[in-house]
Amino acid sequence: MTATDPSQKLTAVAQTAMLVAAARLAEARHDNPVLKDELLEVMIGSSKEVIAAMNQCIEETQQQEAEDGVKHVASFTSVRMRFGDEQLLQFRASHDTFQVIILGAGLDTRPWRLNLGPGVNVIDIDQKDMTEFKRARLLAVDAQLLPVGAHRFPLRCGAWKGLPLDLTGSWLPSLMQSWPSTDVPSVWVAEGLFYYMDEEAGSALLKSMASVSTPDSMLIMTHLNHALFSASQRFVADREFPTDEKIQSFYSTWKSGMPEDVSGHLASCGWRVKSQQLMSDIHKEYGVTLARWKNTTEMRRKYEPELGTLDYWVVVASPEPVVHEI
Ligand SMILES: C[S@@+](CC[C@H](N)C(=O)[O-])C[C@H]1O[C@@H](n2cnc3c(N)ncnc32)[C@H](O)[C@@H]1O
Repeated sequence: MTATDPSQKLTAVAQTAMLVAAARLAEARHDNPVLKDELLEVMIGSSKEVIAAMNQCIEETQQQEAEDGVKHVASFTSVRMRFGDEQLLQFRASHDTFQVIILGAGLDTRPWRLNLGPGVNVIDIDQKDMTEFKRARLLAVDAQLLPVGAHRFPLRCGAWKGLPLDLTGSWLPSLMQSWPSTDVPSVWVAEGLFYYMDEEAGSALLKSMASVSTPDSMLIMTHLNHALFSASQRFVADREFPTDEKIQSFYSTWKSGMPEDVSGHLASCGWRVKSQQLMSDIHKEYGVTLARWKNTTEMRRKYEPELGTLDYWVVVASPEPVVHEI
């Protein structure tokens, strides 16, 4: 990936998958990283854009380590991926057969990275441009796409498929055509997705997932808290800040935050919350300090007194039992 780097043709929203992936590559350079991802490294590690984003991330985390006198500053994207890995593997420990549907999958490499076994089918869903880009990169580095032959990166699950779908549109019928079975549990993973759609589209998405899930299914999702979403939008509108175009356009792609009453919101969409944690708590489990988001020091100083703590929800839920009237 050089002068004609195909990743440059990605939309602004799909580009965010490259940025979070670059942060994961930066994390992998630590001794004892929160997450290692060899496939991701070979898929995108030679892109000039990715190298620049990764180096910036390394510089910022090293600066924070020096300023705060801490050993290991890790990006939130590595922490959230590690958390999701652990949830998936825990689910796997009690289920041999299920399907994993990764929504807004970006450059997620779990089918090649986690030992899920032959009874687990994985479906990635993302926008068309990202799905095509990822497929091309997987083929280029000899990752296994079909369950035949010997490959440099073998599939570690039963089967994998990448579906190009807009999750704010009518995506469910297309998924159902590729759906292995409605009788086995589903694990829905939606990391870093919901804030790219408005609240109405997010609720519709949650309801659709619940409608085709068996009772023992699981949802792993992340979302901005309301304070962080509101602060990001004021940041964009507020002319007082020195403008960094990249960060401005990044925040401009956000469309919603999670309503304050997380359990109530999820219940209204067919999901019962099993755990609800803040990113600023989860990282402690991995013995690392969380990287400050670029510009958030200034944002916190200005907006937290009014809006409350700027943070990020990590939620695990199961389908609400359906009550049948007699
Ligand atoms: C920040 S990235 C996260 C990628 C991945 N989940 C991860 O954690 O590395 C957001 C992803 O959501 C996808 N996305 C955003 N809106 C979408 C939509 N309406 N339909 C399908 N995918 C969408 C983007 O293309 C992008 O790949």
